Amino acid sequence: MSVKQQIRKMVPKHAWRALQRAKADMKLKSYYSRQRKRFLSNCAGPWNSEQSEHSEQLRGTMVYYIHRIEKGLSHQCFRDGFGRSAFSELKTVMEQWRKHSYPVDDVTYQVAQNVIRAYVHKHRAIGKPVPRFVGEWFPAEIASADKPYDSAAEAGTKTVRAADKRNNASSDYATLFAGRTSVREYAEMDVDKEKLHNAVAIAMKTPSVCNRQAYRILFIRNPKFIERALTLQGGWRGYSMPPVLALISVDVRSFVSVEERNEPYIDGGLFTMSFLTALEYESLASCPLNTMMRANQEQEIRKLLGVPDYEVLIAFVAIGNFPESIESPVSFRYRPEFVTRELN
Ligand SMILES: Cc1cc2nc3c(=O)[nH]c(=O)nc-3n(C[C@H](O)[C@H](O)[C@H](O)COP(=O)(O)O)c2cc1C
Repeated sequence: MSVKQQIRKMVPKHAWRALQRAKADMKLKSYYSRQRKRFLSNCAGPWNSEQSEHSEQLRGTMVYYIHRIEKGLSHQCFRDGFGRSAFSELKTVMEQWRKHSYPVDDVTYQVAQNVIRAYVHKHRAIGKPVPRFVGEWFPAEIASADKPYDSAAEAGTKTVRAADKRNNASSDYATLFAGRTSVREYAEMDVDKEKLHNAVAIAMKTPSVCNRQAYRILFIRNPKFIERALTLQGGWRGYSMPPVLALISVDVRSFVSVEERNEPYIDGGLFTMSFLTALEYESLASCPLNTMMRANQEQEIRKLLGVPDYEVLIAFVAIGNFPESIESPVSFRYRPEFVTRELN
């Protein structure tokens, strides 16, 4: 018998448990401390970008504002002249990019330029004046608004059509996956319950750490709950409420050691992706929505929807039927080489 086993035999059960808990607590503190430092020192928060302005931080910030502008361009009830604050931030980050002599033929920078051009095109197409702030801040992009550009740096909106989605169940995987896109405005029709449950059934094939399968999904159809939840969530401004809102969470009671502390988020994320693809297969439109709320908002959501404290929130998913035709943000993608490293 090992020394550890001998001590365990001698020590009363409750004291042993208290000891184990204290040890786990210490380990967690140390793990979280390292996670905290890594994030604090490297993320694109203003405290870091002021000093280092690394291209990756500027890139992340640029994509954030590009996406905000694309969302504004895609609204069914388009608000001309929108986006002053997003454009102001984009201008700053593009200036910083040039100041550091980062390449202006970089795809992110090009997409930033192209989203400005898409904004100009949209205003011209509907016969509205391009706001003065755009003219003042981006004269070069306005002057070159009609310049043809590389499709890899596409920006603005694309049209999504219900007719193109009807036969999704007979698509091959690559086509289905490439065709999925976030849709934030839906047809005024009920969502078929069976399709939702089929999508969950498909997503159950998601792999999870040691096959724990600790994800949970809550479907919300009550418009009052949907409206309250999405108001608290904060990332759904300017859109009508979806007919169905799903909340994906993971039950941490399935996890054993402190080294598994991040696994609920990995398994939950994988499940969310499977579920999104399965919704596409079922010809349902959807949009994943973050759960990165402040503590008091999260508490309110938990109370509203009856989510117990032992579940971590992964993502909401807004779900509806595809409208006949709808504009959706392009949301460009980097080339695979951009994310791939090889060590031979
Ligand atoms: C975890 C997660 C959280 C997201 N949160 C929001 C959100 O709060 N609001 C929103 O409009 N879109 C949200 N999105 C959708 C992204 O903007 C979208 O997936 C991204 O731009 C890529 O576009 P695509 O889904 O059309 O391919 C979220 C996506 C993910 C994966």
